[in-house]
Amino acid sequence: EKTIITDKFNRPLRDLRISVIDRCNFRCQYCMPADQFGPDFEFLPRSALLTYEEIERLAKIFVRLGVKKIRLTGGEPLLRRDLPILIEKLAAIEGLSDIGLTTNGVLLPKLAAKLKEAGLKRVNISLDSLDDELFGKINGRGIGTGPVLEGIQAAKDAGLGVKLNMVVKKGLNDQDIIPMAKFCKEKGLELRYIEYMDVGSTNGWKMDDVVTKKEIYEMLKAEFELEPVDPAYYGEVAKHYRYKGTDANVGFITSVSESFCSSCTRARLSANGQIFTCLFNGNGQDLRNFMRNGASDQQISGRIAEIWNGRNDRYSDERTAETNKNRKKIEMSYIGG
Ligand code: GTP
Ligand code: 5AD
Ligand code: SF4
Ligand code: SF4
Repeated sequence: EKTIITDKFNRPLRDLRISVIDRCNFRCQYCMPADQFGPDFEFLPRSALLTYEEIERLAKIFVRLGVKKIRLTGGEPLLRRDLPILIEKLAAIEGLSDIGLTTNGVLLPKLAAKLKEAGLKRVNISLDSLDDELFGKINGRGIGTGPVLEGIQAAKDAGLGVKLNMVVKKGLNDQDIIPMAKFCKEKGLELRYIEYMDVGSTNGWKMDDVVTKKEIYEMLKAEFELEPVDPAYYGEVAKHYRYKGTDANVGFITSVSESFCSSCTRARLSANGQIFTCLFNGNGQDLRNFMRNGASDQQISGRIAEIWNGRNDRYSDERTAETNKNRKKIEMSYIGG
């Protein structure tokens, strides 16, 4: 039995991004800057995290409300113990057409085969530079590209679909735009350039730091022949091009310069069981305590429907340099991007 729910702008609920942990083994400047997420930072205690049984129960309810795609995120989701067990539970849910995972890749050599076996279809791996020194500086841990490249290879070897995410920040890694394109084209990996966003309140975002899709596209056009590719499904986040004469694609995630809120069908579930209706709306609404206090599936479903029906978020459509200042926002490490 499916019930289709829509929000204030008639957007259905189709995707669920589930953060399984708020911790990460990286300290990327644009996400969890090391000076703000230091040794004394208080992450969620284990008891605050949803258990796998709780996540499975909520996921089933979400699927009955129209969710077709689930993406696991963090922090770094592979830091959560026994993650393949969760994947196995999610893969068994009827009516779900896709399960993905977004990761920094470092733990994939250890886990890729187990994840695939558990039913994971694909991974999106973050890599912002091919230069070891710069990459180490960006990830805040001095980790070179080696461990990530090994993770990419392990994912391919395991038969997982692999896409690469590169967040581009002006003056930081824009010189890596072309080298990354060449590298991915050669390896047959889809690369997506991500416009640097004003998520959270710790990364010091400025509009001037953004390198737009248009700027990147112009740089690529000087090197390669590109042709546009139709979206794979309604509301796809990335816009794609194909290198002419090949079947290699390149994509852009244009949250800043060409926002895509009108087709945004995504809900986010934080590791401690709060629903967020937008990456930029810091008002999470609790499901965990409601559930732990004995709510029935029907009551939980009713609460989710109520929250979604009331949703009117379209932050990226409304973004200006001013809106970035006076908002209660939520850190990306907490809801996984
Ligand atoms: P697939 O298309 O399923 O492969 O995944 P995805 O691109 O939606 O997920 P991924 O975790 O790889 O995210 C890539 C980038 O898109 C990240 O920077 C996300 O923060 C960003 N992103 C994903 N969904 C949204 C969204 O709803 N709004 C905004 N503004 N950014 C988003
Ligand atoms: N702007 C854009 N993308 C970001 N990510 C993390 N922080 C930001 C930001 N401020 C990306 C990560 C990862 C994905 C989940 O989100 O690099 O690929
Ligand atoms: Fe960790 Fe990903 Fe955030 Fe980097 S972007 S700090 S890898 S969660
Ligand atoms: Fe969806 Fe909010 Fe992103 Fe717009 S800014 S696409 S509403 S998550």
